[in-house]
Amino acid sequence: MAPDDLARQAIDAMNAISGEHPGFRAAHAKGTLCAATFTPTADARHLSRAAHFRTGPIRAHVRFSNGSGDPAAPDYEPREGRGMATKFYLDDGTTTDVIGITLPAFFVSTIDGFLDFCRARTPNSETGEPDPAAIGAFLEQHPEALTAGAAVLAATPPESYLRCAYNSLHAYRFVADAGERRYVRYRWEPEAGEASLSVEEAEARGPDYLQHELATRLADGPAAFTLSVQIAEDGDAVDDPSIPWPDERRWVPMGGLEITGLAHDREQGDDVLVFDPTRVTDGIELSDDPILRFRTRAYAESVLRRSGVARDRD
Ligand code: HEM
Repeated sequence: MAPDDLARQAIDAMNAISGEHPGFRAAHAKGTLCAATFTPTADARHLSRAAHFRTGPIRAHVRFSNGSGDPAAPDYEPREGRGMATKFYLDDGTTTDVIGITLPAFFVSTIDGFLDFCRARTPNSETGEPDPAAIGAFLEQHPEALTAGAAVLAATPPESYLRCAYNSLHAYRFVADAGERRYVRYRWEPEAGEASLSVEEAEARGPDYLQHELATRLADGPAAFTLSVQIAEDGDAVDDPSIPWPDERRWVPMGGLEITGLAHDREQGDDVLVFDPTRVTDGIELSDDPILRFRTRAYAESVLRRSGVARDRD
């Protein structure tokens, strides 16, 4: 892999916030892997010719996580996006990934903006807290961060990873059989509905309550999510994850995901499991969003540091 200075800078900047934790992801360090099956809806194939939107059920893995790069950060921390990373195993032996987060928008729309964002959140060595003046200066320079910032400030800890909705934020271009192309954004909706706790309730459940709840809940039987896509109209921002699309844009259900239990068949021994938002398949194309394009480079650097592995991964 060619050296990638910008990716290194990004991971250094993330480590400066949460510390270096050998063997762990630089972000979303704490999480739990689950086994799942995905079944497309009858209409999905009309929007994209991708294999998993044509036939099913197929096997999938899902990793639920907290946003922090600190694997010891407590689950009751309200101010972070929770993640749902899904890997679909296609019949031809390849895989494709969808990564979602509980926020309605990303904080920034450029790589420089991301580095500014990390630096503004870096704790002061004396107080151990980010400097409010630095955050204020960042917001003045990056007003696009206000949508995500307001959502983070209003967030309360989830009752369960299975009771959150997760958004891809990036747009992808679906290609249908006849060659029609449409920009879409993904959203996972929990069948059980969304639910959260007060910080006090969450603290009383303990620092690992989300991981424990997942294990206990799935021991009782499967849990379900619906994957839908929101379809862009002319003029919607297709290369800027900081701008949500208008609510009235059409939503189309693409499939159902059944989470069947915890998974113990990956991330064992030498297996390095990597979820990458640029790992698409025929029928799905990347938008020109610079954050989306950069993520694969930053993730590769994180993977290299956490596992020593530099190769094409699935
Ligand atoms: C420039 C922007 C971003 C950077 C630099 C970044 C960086 C990272 C890194 C380094 C990891 C760990 C990768 C690994 O070791 O496997 C990660 C994981 C993750 N990121 Fe991002 N990220 C960015 C934007 C986003 C956005 C927009 C989302 C929203 C969907 C997101 C959601 C996630 C999730 C859910 C994970 C956990 C994946 C897993 O379970 O393996 N990230 N991110």
